[in-house]
Amino acid sequence: MPRRCGCNVDLDLPGGVDARVVLLDLNGFNEQLSGPIIDLIALINSRRPSTIFSIESESGVKLTNDFTTLFQRVHNFSPTITQLPSGPSLTTNIPTSPLSTSFLTSLPSVTSTNSTDPNTRRLHHQVAVGGTFDHLHIGHKLLLTATILLADPSQPRKITIGITGDALLVNKKHASALESWSVRQQRCADFVETILCFHPNPSVIRSVEERNDEDVPNGKVVAVTYTPSKGSGQTAEGDESSITINYTQIQDPFGPTITDENITALVVTAETRAGGKAVNDKREEKGWAELEVFEVGVLESGSGDGEVKEGFEGKIGSTEIRRRIVELQQQTEK
Ligand SMILES: *[C@@H]1O[C@H](CO)[C@@H](O)[C@H](O)[C@H]1NC(C)=O
Ligand SMILES: *[C@@H]1O[C@H](CO)[C@@H](O)[C@H](O)[C@H]1NC(C)=O
Ligand SMILES: *[C@@H]1O[C@H](CO)[C@@H](O)[C@H](O)[C@H]1NC(C)=O
Repeated sequence: MPRRCGCNVDLDLPGGVDARVVLLDLNGFNEQLSGPIIDLIALINSRRPSTIFSIESESGVKLTNDFTTLFQRVHNFSPTITQLPSGPSLTTNIPTSPLSTSFLTSLPSVTSTNSTDPNTRRLHHQVAVGGTFDHLHIGHKLLLTATILLADPSQPRKITIGITGDALLVNKKHASALESWSVRQQRCADFVETILCFHPNPSVIRSVEERNDEDVPNGKVVAVTYTPSKGSGQTAEGDESSITINYTQIQDPFGPTITDENITALVVTAETRAGGKAVNDKREEKGWAELEVFEVGVLESGSGDGEVKEGFEGKIGSTEIRRRIVELQQQTEK
């Protein structure tokens, strides 16, 4: 679902595309909160697609026809679809339902600390991820997408997104161009909503609760809850598909992972791998179960010499984005 510039997210290159990826599960369920895996009906009901491209291959044509038929049935008019020539096709062995965890861990770029047989894999309902999330970029988006994908919707899901507090960042490079905690939190929340929630009007099922205890660790929280049955008298606790996302201000590398025993999984990158180990050491000291740690490999363009770097500090990293902003400011001041 490409979006053009101007929607408040920094693009990797001028004129680039602010992309979100959602996956279609055609045998799936019509769930408004099953993103980033949805079926065609959820996509069409959400009224989000406005510019639609399709591919002139056999499967592309079939998908376009299915999409058009359903779209007409729902909206009583035909969608405008632009056909694009199909490039080389890629066939991969993607497992069919149940998607979520098994799909994620089948990707070569995702590894788990738990290498047991995928059929006995533990399901996670409380998942955590942490980072600075400054100038939200494609690497952050991959990380957030993986985090949402990991939480299994058979029970209410609780996601903790730890966002580093401003006080810890004063010594960062190009700190003058850092976004404030609330801006970083809001941009994460906006992105998460677009990949998770396919309700035609998300505000109907969304509730937001803010806590502002900056003096206690993890005391500043924006808790966003989506409850599909809202209005029908059910509570979020009793609603299986409900999901709460806590955007928590963190003051150390641990955040709520060492204060909330119920978290069972942590998503990291190569850069924060050591943090995952440290969290599990602390949990072991407390006699708590270890977190299953999922490492998401993020490919980045290196220094242009053909080298591919892993991690967030390549050309698309936040440091590079801030460096360019500071440079631009200096140019305009001259
Ligand atoms: C999320 O934040 C709320 C409000 O601060 C808190 O009550 C809850 O325990 C937090 N944790 C989770 C996992 O939802
Ligand atoms: C963990 O789960 C138990 C059982 O559901 C609950 O009683 C407890 O309050 C939870 N702990 C936290 C920190 O949310
Ligand atoms: C690894 O998987 C086994 C089997 O599902 C489970 O019992 C164990 O708790 C898991 N360990 C971690 C760290 O997730």
